[in-house]
Amino acid sequence: MRNPLAPEWLSVPVGTTNDPSLDPEIWPRNLKRGTYARITLAGTPVTELAIKYSTPLYLYDQDFLLQQATDVKRIFEEAAAKIGTTAHIYYAGKAFLSAQFVRWMVELGLSVDVCSAGELAVALAAGVDPSSIGLHGNNKSEYEIRKAISAGIGVIVIDSEPELHLVARIAAELGRHQQVRLRINTGVHAHTHEYLATAREDQKFGVAMSDAETLVDKIAGYESLDFLGMHAHIGSQIYAPEGFQESANRLLDIHARLLKKYDVPELNLGGGFGVKYVESDTPIPLEEMAAGIMNAVAKRCEELGIKPPALAFEPGRAITAQAGVALYTVGTIKDVEVQLDNGTAIRRYVAIDGGMSDNLRPALYGANYSVIANARTGDAGYVLSRVVGKHCESGDIVVHDCYLPADIAEGDILTIASTGAYCVSLSSNYNYLERPATVAVGAKEETVLLTRETEEDLLRRDGGING
Ligand SMILES: Cc1ncc(COP(=O)(O)O)c(C=O)c1O
Repeated sequence: MRNPLAPEWLSVPVGTTNDPSLDPEIWPRNLKRGTYARITLAGTPVTELAIKYSTPLYLYDQDFLLQQATDVKRIFEEAAAKIGTTAHIYYAGKAFLSAQFVRWMVELGLSVDVCSAGELAVALAAGVDPSSIGLHGNNKSEYEIRKAISAGIGVIVIDSEPELHLVARIAAELGRHQQVRLRINTGVHAHTHEYLATAREDQKFGVAMSDAETLVDKIAGYESLDFLGMHAHIGSQIYAPEGFQESANRLLDIHARLLKKYDVPELNLGGGFGVKYVESDTPIPLEEMAAGIMNAVAKRCEELGIKPPALAFEPGRAITAQAGVALYTVGTIKDVEVQLDNGTAIRRYVAIDGGMSDNLRPALYGANYSVIANARTGDAGYVLSRVVGKHCESGDIVVHDCYLPADIAEGDILTIASTGAYCVSLSSNYNYLERPATVAVGAKEETVLLTRETEEDLLRRDGGING
């Protein structure tokens, strides 16, 4: 009988012994479930990787990751070409960042967005051409701006009027001409398939649309600044193009007015393209998303009698999420009786050796994930389960609702899908847990992107020990 605590959308898995297939829209292409439900990534058993690097462990399917980056770039470029323009892709480094990762993105022809001195330091340490880096942030410090301009960063996205003057002054002091964009609050906020449009979205980023032209005049008045165009980012995990279309329409209206005075080469429509985490998620294919955005841009440009500008986009999750998985080791298992109006039901709590310190998304956004157990065939049946962490918070949940094999036991390895974005980058040392290693696994080699923290790392900052 179906567990009444299970959400409607969650289906009970079929036995895995004879069903090696995993949803290709959720799992990395080279993650396979073979005989006796043993899981491998690019040919290496996950049990081997778990022993070698310890759990929790964040892994990327390297070939798939690079393919995803290539595909995202190609999809936007092809869609842009169809409306007679170009698309430039900035990988949003906040999704996941390490030096090797930056090198891979730049080698594939993407630029990289950073949004702090720390992220910039990683990108610069990668040794890539600084002109392929962009700097974001709603509260950049003088230090960050100076560091970026001295390094020769490609573009700075200006987020407010005071920052405009600060960037102009620092660039002048350093004798540079700094390319800048102006971030606009278009009043459009999108989440999954819904979007909300107001005069100004109630959030901290960007300048009001009504101030855009005056501020561009001010940028143009500075010898040390080169205006590239406007920018907007309307949200994340967006399933459909309507929000982007509305935002593009609003920006193009201003863009057309600016063209009467200035040469404005570009328009940046941000990132936020959604991915599938669980079976109920329904993002449209990226090809359709890109085509939907481009068609709207082409239509509005025609109405305004202007040529479509060169476009830029900043995807993070769409490149990295699906290529990543996380491994955890199962510890304590508890069956908890839950009172319902008409009886009781059992929810199984399966505790793992990490949690909200390495994956904050469920606690932060109520995010959900898909999970499979290694070497459990499903022959014993499935039990409605909740995968929880080991932190001192009841909201420390990694997978809210899933069916796990009924014979799951302490020491088993769980593999969580789509953890390649906003997990490691949001991780903390809560409860003094060491942050996990992140390793890219290819068919021939493994690349350690981030090593696992050690107890020495944790104690190093303690003034009472090293003071
Ligand atoms: C300015 C900006 N650009 C791009 C992104 C990337 O979003 P996503 O990873 O959802 O594509 C973000 C995410 O917060 C952002 O703030």
